Amino acid sequence: MLIRLTYASRTKGVLGPADVKDIIRTSQSNNAKVGVTGALLLVDGVFLQCLEGSVASVNALYHRIALDPRHQQTSILAFSEIDRRLFGGWSMGLVPAIADNLSLLFSYSPALAFDPFAMKASALDALFTELVARARVLSN
Ligand SMILES: Cc1cc2nc3c(=O)[nH]c(=O)nc-3n(C[C@H](O)[C@H](O)[C@H](O)COP(=O)(O)O)c2cc1C
Repeated sequence: MLIRLTYASRTKGVLGPADVKDIIRTSQSNNAKVGVTGALLLVDGVFLQCLEGSVASVNALYHRIALDPRHQQTSILAFSEIDRRLFGGWSMGLVPAIADNLSLLFSYSPALAFDPFAMKASALDALFTELVARARVLSN
């Protein structure tokens, strides 16, 4: 069975684009080995990540990620069975925090700031679908 898990977390300490690239590099090589795909973004100290794959591989990965000292307050926001992957082309895609993407993220947020913790699962799915449709998910 194929599933998609979406979670958010808050950075511990100051992390920037170089740290995100480092995480993406490690993720791409590890995830490709276990058939996990997804995307990651970091905006205003908040990580939002989508993980797709088998129940076993996504659960194992999520529990490993949750222990990572670079972030805290990991919260699962959405978890569902899916028929097909949204991020089939990315073992871990990067959504850069550029102005066009920020305005899209804010348009989905109930608050004025980007706050995925307050978003409905359906809004998170719609956001990721739109990011893919607009070709905003990069490979590095
Ligand atoms: C926000 C965030 C997202 C991460 N996503 C992944 C991921 O998708 N895949 C992965 O293997 N590691 C991910 N990591 C890194 C893991 O926590 C861990 O450091 C890494 O898997 C260890 O891999 P290594 O043993 O090959 O060094 C992530 C870390 C953070 C902070």
